Amino acid sequence: MATTSEPTNGYTNPTSHTNGQGTAHELPVIIAGGGCVGLFLALLLAHSAIPIRIIVIELELPDPTSTRAMAHQPPTYPILARVPGLLPELVETGCLSSGLCFRTAAATGSKVIAGKAFDNNSGEAGMKGKGQLLLPQAKFQDVLMRRLEAFGDKAQVILQSRVVGFSESSTSVYVHVESRAGPEERLEAQYLIGADGARSSVRKMMGTASPGETLDAQLVATDLHGFDFAKYGFYDANFIIDPTDYGLIGRINRDGLWRVSYGVPAGLSEEEIKQGVDDKLRRMLPNDGVDEAGQKAYRVVRVAPYKAQQRCADTFWKGRVGIVGDAAHLTNPYAGLGLASGIADASSLSSVLTRILGSEASDADKLLASWSEARRQKYFSVVDKPSRMAYMRVKSDVGTPEKVDALLSHDPLVGALKKGMPMMPPSLETSVEELEGW
Ligand SMILES: Cc1cc2nc3c(=O)[nH]c(=O)nc-3n(C[C@H](O)[C@H](O)[C@H](O)COP(=O)(O)OP(=O)(O)OC[C@H]3O[C@@H](n4cnc5c(N)ncnc54)[C@H](O)[C@@H]3O)c2cc1C
Ligand SMILES: *[C@@H]1O[C@H](CO)[C@@H](O)[C@H](O)[C@H]1NC(C)=O
Repeated sequence: MATTSEPTNGYTNPTSHTNGQGTAHELPVIIAGGGCVGLFLALLLAHSAIPIRIIVIELELPDPTSTRAMAHQPPTYPILARVPGLLPELVETGCLSSGLCFRTAAATGSKVIAGKAFDNNSGEAGMKGKGQLLLPQAKFQDVLMRRLEAFGDKAQVILQSRVVGFSESSTSVYVHVESRAGPEERLEAQYLIGADGARSSVRKMMGTASPGETLDAQLVATDLHGFDFAKYGFYDANFIIDPTDYGLIGRINRDGLWRVSYGVPAGLSEEEIKQGVDDKLRRMLPNDGVDEAGQKAYRVVRVAPYKAQQRCADTFWKGRVGIVGDAAHLTNPYAGLGLASGIADASSLSSVLTRILGSEASDADKLLASWSEARRQKYFSVVDKPSRMAYMRVKSDVGTPEKVDALLSHDPLVGALKKGMPMMPPSLETSVEELEGW
């Protein structure tokens, strides 16, 4: 892979290959956005048997400290494993969770309602029965970038550049790219895929609405160092159930970095959120977040407020342009499905595009349309619904033993965890062979 900051640097204009009469195969597939989803899609396409070039256009330089999504759910393991050797490398780079639980808030004693320990040693059994993979987003992206590098000219990531527009012909799409240095360039491609996140400009330029709703609270992802959660019997992931002090307390890495994520009223400004962090942490952490000497026992390294939204675009594909990941759909993080569903979009779309580019699809347009509809239906059935339930669950009242019993009897997931029953989350994947036009 060639990584450059300017489209002109080390980059041959794809139109010059074709001389106006080249076959469509010489044109690259362009991906707008080099987040986890865009890079994973690029890697899958690079691994395909089709001799295709992939260009990723990414607005930013990599930020090694970015954490954002930091826990990956077991249903994504078989998807990540489609890239040879990737899953073990990710496990090696991050670490595996040793357990998760639901517990009451600090004010009601931090009592464990239901919990499960995982065997997190990377032993013989492979990934079977393992818990979440803890891996900050920047580290995930770094592994994907380095793997793309091994593909040489086949895969290129152009940094500090943005997709600002596109125009379609019947046989190709011209992608308008603006770099920091140079003037706007037009790159001809077979397809453009927007993996450009929640504020996706590709989705907007497609003219596709993303109906849904913004939930009644903002979420604040606070990363902190130095607090001894193990001393208070905390698991690696702890869902805190409480009408006001709800949230998720989870280990991020092996070096004592933890995420304390909580909700604040929708109207609060960023300034007010930052001022309120210590107050909130006192309510969220055991022993009021202080040590024996009464001193603050943690150090906040990052405070990232973000909106909790449940949204899904009207279509994920139009003409030669599509969207995946956060560009296509958004969900609150309490079921841990935001990034996972984007990874599943990339996986199924790479199979669909490979089928079409290999001239094997019975009807390319139909296939892309049915992929889009299948992914939208997946969102509503296995992402939106469980995520909304997970959000309601963490906000429920478990202030008395009777209320805890009521939760255990009414909530199938927490109930099953309590009884030690295996949790089998529904698959996020789409069976591409069953799609119309395959
Ligand atoms: C603070 C925070 C905490 C989160 N915590 C969790 C969590 O615990 N669990 C969870 O599942 N999810 C979480 N999420 C959501 C998760 O980060 C997203 O679901 C995930 O990053 C989606 O990946 P993506 O690749 O689709 O988009 P992104 O990671 O947003 O990547 C999009 C990329 O596109 C680039 N870009 C944007 N516009 C353009 C353009 N015009 N041209 C070129 N490039 C462009 C951006 O620079 C960015 O790198 C969190 C999000 C935030 C903000
Ligand atoms: C398993 O969990 C423990 C305790 O949280 C942690 O210290 C260790 O690094 C984890 N092991 C692996 C292989 O990830």
